[in-house]
Amino acid sequence: MAASRPAPLSKVELFSLVASDLRRVDKVIALDTVCSEDAVTSISRHLNSSGGKRLRPALVLLSARACGARGDSPIRIAAVMEIIHAATLVHDDVIDNAEVRRGSPSPNRAWGNQISVLAGDWLYMQAFSIALREREFEILDILIDLTRMMVEGELMQAGLIGRLDVSEQQYHDLIHRKTACLLSACTRLGALLARKGEKTEERLRAYGWNLGMAFQLIDDVLDFEATESVLGKPVGNDLKEGKVTLPMILALRKCTPAERELVETVIRDRGYGSVSLARILEILDRHGTIAEVRKRAMRFCDAALEGLETLPDSPHRRALVDAAAHWAVVRAN
Ligand code: IPE
Ligand code: IPE
Ligand code: MG
Ligand code: MG
Repeated sequence: MAASRPAPLSKVELFSLVASDLRRVDKVIALDTVCSEDAVTSISRHLNSSGGKRLRPALVLLSARACGARGDSPIRIAAVMEIIHAATLVHDDVIDNAEVRRGSPSPNRAWGNQISVLAGDWLYMQAFSIALREREFEILDILIDLTRMMVEGELMQAGLIGRLDVSEQQYHDLIHRKTACLLSACTRLGALLARKGEKTEERLRAYGWNLGMAFQLIDDVLDFEATESVLGKPVGNDLKEGKVTLPMILALRKCTPAERELVETVIRDRGYGSVSLARILEILDRHGTIAEVRKRAMRFCDAALEGLETLPDSPHRRALVDAAAHWAVVRAN
């Protein structure tokens, strides 16, 4: 990133601009995810009260306000995006047989797979029903394309589980579908609500997409390097689940047959019983691939900033600039 760029805001400062809007988003979520079946309401409450960064609603709100949108539509669409995100997490935890989410037992652990799948379906439909209140086909178009794309991402991921021959192109395509598309839909919808024209929408879409790519690269780095209390989910989990992410894809290209065998063992054992996570980290370290992935995340962040260049200066625009720095730099330290 350019040396002259000001020091990035902290996460608290970053979100403080939209803090009161975010409280209203949480109210919409709480009121609109009440279902006649208690289990669905409980799953939604459980997810919403156990934390979560609220990154997606913050991006809708910051984009909308930076482009000049006023009123309550950004609040509702921000809630829609957090509910869609929650639905994907509920389904993802069933698929991955996860144990922990947002620092608490994941819904599949607490309520079982059957109820979780149905709760995820209900949350998707509820999100679409809230979005329908805007009476805008374009919004629905974006949300339907997005949901289809994310499902394709999960299917693609399922096909790649346990495979050591994942290419960079496949990985790129996967994180585009499972993460970047959601973030780009958030920022694009924020711009759409301001009605400043297609060019503005496209710029904000590109910003969100690049931020999303950087975000997933850093998430995949943190999976190796952070702690469970920071992540709210176990460390070293991706490899345990058979997911070969970019730090490992790059290392596998350069590693010795003996090192490859160690990676294969973790995937085969679905855990670190005979090969420790520390040993795997040594391999990544020896080949410098964590640093390489961080560098690539920074490049996506720089590309994200280009999308904001023509936007008039405002505190919200500044926060979007800082969000890019935050996700690629601060979160990475
Ligand atoms: C989790 O997203 C899914 C990924 C794309 C890695 P977040 O890490 O933003 O999850 P919450 O919303 O803060 O729990
Ligand atoms: C994230 O996928 C879920 C979606 C974006 C749909 P992962 O399985 O990689 O994320 P975590 O590690 O469970 O949060
Ligand atoms: Mg998962
Ligand atoms: Mg992950």
